[in-house]
Amino acid sequence: MPDSTSELPMIDAKGVKKHFGHQEVLRGVTLQVARGEVVAIIGPSGSGKSTFLRCLNHLETIDGGSVTIEGEALARTDAQGRCSYVPDAELRRICAKMGMVFQHFNLFPHLTVLENLIEAPIVVQRMARDAAIARAETLLAKVGLSAKRDNYPARLSGGQKQRVAIARALCMQPDIMLFDEPTSALDPELTGEVLRTMRELADERMTMLVVTHEMGFAREVAHTVAFMDQGELLAARPAREFFADPGNERAQAFLHHML
Ligand SMILES: Nc1ncnc2c1ncn2[C@@H]1O[C@H](COP(=O)(O)OP(=O)(O)O)[C@@H](O)[C@H]1O
Ligand SMILES: [Mg+2]
Repeated sequence: MPDSTSELPMIDAKGVKKHFGHQEVLRGVTLQVARGEVVAIIGPSGSGKSTFLRCLNHLETIDGGSVTIEGEALARTDAQGRCSYVPDAELRRICAKMGMVFQHFNLFPHLTVLENLIEAPIVVQRMARDAAIARAETLLAKVGLSAKRDNYPARLSGGQKQRVAIARALCMQPDIMLFDEPTSALDPELTGEVLRTMRELADERMTMLVVTHEMGFAREVAHTVAFMDQGELLAARPAREFFADPGNERAQAFLHHML
């Protein structure tokens, strides 16, 4: 279970607002994630789940509210409603605490598996090449893909690509992993291997925020399940409780539809 000591939350999002043009995509989303906690976000397509995740690591900018990572504010909104970000160098340092895994893997197609893994540690963290390779090899072994070290992504199955993407994110030694529908682009027979890798990470007490349609994963691996609909986070409860009674009509209807 997550630590519920007096420690600061790993993720503390308060009243996060985001609009694209006239469309309000996030209408004040509040969520905290504790160290070692696994939170699954579920909800219908278009409800703002990806946008919320992207706001946490500054792939999108927020228009209101605040985002604080391990006690350090990325962005906050003043009493006049003006939203501001910390300076760029701070922003990069704080965002580096978060690794992200996308639905479509986003591997570099022109780089081998190993090169995909060592690129950011060498370029961003200025790690020595040998050390980066050693770390990458350890992580490839961890996701069971040592044999694919010198292959190009095009030669891998979807499940293998996603496990490489997870290893690549881990190479940056994040404190938090964000997953945006990591198995949605996979054939059903390939989702299991990716979910197993994620479950192992959870067992190692990685802090994880996972947007997913995998109700089995949400029920069995997540500590907390949150439901989003139409730009709002309408319910967040311990997984067991959530599946017994999400405490919200729209969440109930969604569950009924999914299960
Ligand atoms: N870059 C963007 N520009 C304009 N609209 C966007 C952009 N990204 C997302 N949206 C819109 O925001 C809404 C929420 O999208 P998204 O966060 O992707 O939802 P979900 O991940 O829950 O399916 C959708 O209506 C989507 O079309
Ligand atoms: Mg999405």
